[in-house]
Amino acid sequence: MAKLCFIVALLTVALFSCQPKENVYKDASAPIEKRVADLLSRMNLEEKILQLNQSAYMNDNPNNQEEIQTKFEPRYGSVIYFSESPKARNMMQKKAMEETRLGIPIIFGYDVIHGYRTVYPISLAQACSWNPQRVEQLCAIAAAETKSAGIDWTFSPMIDVSRDPRWGRVSEGYGEDPLVNGIFGAASVKGYQGDQIPYKIAACLKHYVAYGESEGGRDYAYTDVSDQALWENYLPPYKTGVEAGALTVMSAFNDISGIPASANHYTLTEILRDKWGFQGFVVSDWYSVAQLKAQGYAADDSDATEKALKAGVDMDMMDFLYQNTLDTLVKQGRVDVTVIDEAVKRILRVKFQLGLFDQPYVEEIPDSSRFLLPEYREQARLSAEETMVLLENKGNILPLQQKYKKVAIIGPIAKDKKALLGSWSGKGHAEDVVDIYQGLSDIFPAGTVFSYAKGCDIEKQLPGGFNEALKVAKEADVVILCLGESAGMSGENASRSTISLPAPQEALLEVVSQSKKPVVTLVAAGRPVGLTKIAPLSDALLAIWQPGVEGGHAVANILSGQVNPSARLAVTFPRTEGQIPVYHSMRNRARPYQGMYQDISTDPMYPFGYGLSYANFAYSNLSVSAPEVKGQTPFTVRVEVKNTSETTGRETVLLYMRDKVASISQPYKKFINFQQIELQPNESKIVEFTIKPNPAMAFTNSRGDLVMEEGEFDFMVKDLSTPIRWKK
Ligand code: BGC
Repeated sequence: MAKLCFIVALLTVALFSCQPKENVYKDASAPIEKRVADLLSRMNLEEKILQLNQSAYMNDNPNNQEEIQTKFEPRYGSVIYFSESPKARNMMQKKAMEETRLGIPIIFGYDVIHGYRTVYPISLAQACSWNPQRVEQLCAIAAAETKSAGIDWTFSPMIDVSRDPRWGRVSEGYGEDPLVNGIFGAASVKGYQGDQIPYKIAACLKHYVAYGESEGGRDYAYTDVSDQALWENYLPPYKTGVEAGALTVMSAFNDISGIPASANHYTLTEILRDKWGFQGFVVSDWYSVAQLKAQGYAADDSDATEKALKAGVDMDMMDFLYQNTLDTLVKQGRVDVTVIDEAVKRILRVKFQLGLFDQPYVEEIPDSSRFLLPEYREQARLSAEETMVLLENKGNILPLQQKYKKVAIIGPIAKDKKALLGSWSGKGHAEDVVDIYQGLSDIFPAGTVFSYAKGCDIEKQLPGGFNEALKVAKEADVVILCLGESAGMSGENASRSTISLPAPQEALLEVVSQSKKPVVTLVAAGRPVGLTKIAPLSDALLAIWQPGVEGGHAVANILSGQVNPSARLAVTFPRTEGQIPVYHSMRNRARPYQGMYQDISTDPMYPFGYGLSYANFAYSNLSVSAPEVKGQTPFTVRVEVKNTSETTGRETVLLYMRDKVASISQPYKKFINFQQIELQPNESKIVEFTIKPNPAMAFTNSRGDLVMEEGEFDFMVKDLSTPIRWKK
């Protein structure tokens, strides 16, 4: 009897262990890959195809208004979520979790570009701070605010290297240098996502790739990019972003030398996945699959779907082409289900990594405890102070001395809160912004008397505006002239053929300067603007970019001297649009002594790395630790920096390298590293960089291999240079 019982028990155990475990994908303790595989095995074709779809139910992107659809389908993979309400989002999520067969959560996405409600300076400005730690903190704040609205995924950071200030989207990236874009892109990925599963929100590296090379600075335009340029300039920030763990990538609008980015197998599969091992998913940019038709690359909707999916675009943003055509494409044998399965797997993996299956809902908390907390505003102000670049300071007019009691604040930007909020400002509210007039009034010493005249509109003259401005200027001791662009003059679909400020603003400065009063000009903009007419008539010139909610306080702290400006340009300011492209890592002309422009200086107005401080810094004794290095032995480059002034200041030391002769000619100077130091009056410090020959002295060939060649190299800091030989 005992024997029989034992056999029955054995049989029961064997029977249970042979049966597939129920719902492994719902088991939070199971490994993610197992959960993905289990869920995929339970999905039918329709469910799979719907996962590849992203839709929106409200839309505040003015460039994409016409393509909105309103019906909510809870089996969609993703929704672009334009509301701030966690409640509405939780309701939608509940439908997905409870009213669909498998209960797959939706991933809600939104464009959080430089803050959600606490809007901080635009990315181009952030790069001028040379402070990636701050950017990481700001993105963590943005993630917290964003998640509180129920958004799991931001379409940011944008890491498109751009050397064309006519292109409106230059504001959204980290400037002209690939390394700088990589450094700041990685910092934002870390800030948004955190460093462990479940990640806070997913980051999205965009727009992959070479979108910043748009012809003539026109948005959505063709890009003629050689493989050499692709590998040297445009791919490196994406590689860094993938290494930083970004969960998603967005394929761009642009046609890359004949193969559009959203159907480019080479960039999306061979490079991104096969070479770099990217495990996340790729979402197309809004309508970029359908645009393959306009680009002359796809004959019809089915063709566009087939090309995009097979190239490596997993999720279709807003076209509904995958949804409408994939089923037939499978039936016709044009698309194999395994291709769909791969895309579904990638999307599900990210959902698991975000913890959406185990924690599909977000907490509903009141606005006062989720938005614009004092510590968030504090970070936004510190960032704004670190990003404003002092371009001119004649006779050290700044910081403004106490003798300037009567201050005239003139210009169309002085009270324009929206201009400071800037382009693509999430859920920022203009009334949250401290404008320049208010910032100065809050911070300048008691007894300062302010007067105000608008002078002109941003793009138009105002009747009597110039006369009033001149009168106000004459009655004051100093003029703070607030010029610049409106929020919408930069950003997506905001290209400009001229980079100078609108004519009425240039005229306003001419009029105001007739007062013979010192003029401190502030320029708020999302791009490098042409300043050839502005600089000569300004005693001081401060680029304040689009600084966000605390912009006015940051300006006041800098002008009053409570903060010493420390920002350095991460993008070159051309003199005129005729100089474009002009950037720091250009290659030498065949005749370095000839070939200059005959009508203007060939040098840019303000180069990459430029920026003044209230302190002065002297550089000396640049040296390398050995005149010759072999193999991969690390060595050091040192330079002495002295604060020769009576003011404490922060200096960013930028290190460049030149490979004098190579089998692929190299830039005259290539930016390779930086350090930021603070120096007390008359203090000096030795700044030391440890250099690993590879990658610092390597170059990239047109297949993306890093190549090292023996020979002579120079290391450069400011106008100092020191040679070194490298041998295998
Ligand atoms: C932009 C993207 C953005 C998307 C969703 C597109 O028009 O190019 O940067 O993420 O819209 O709003």
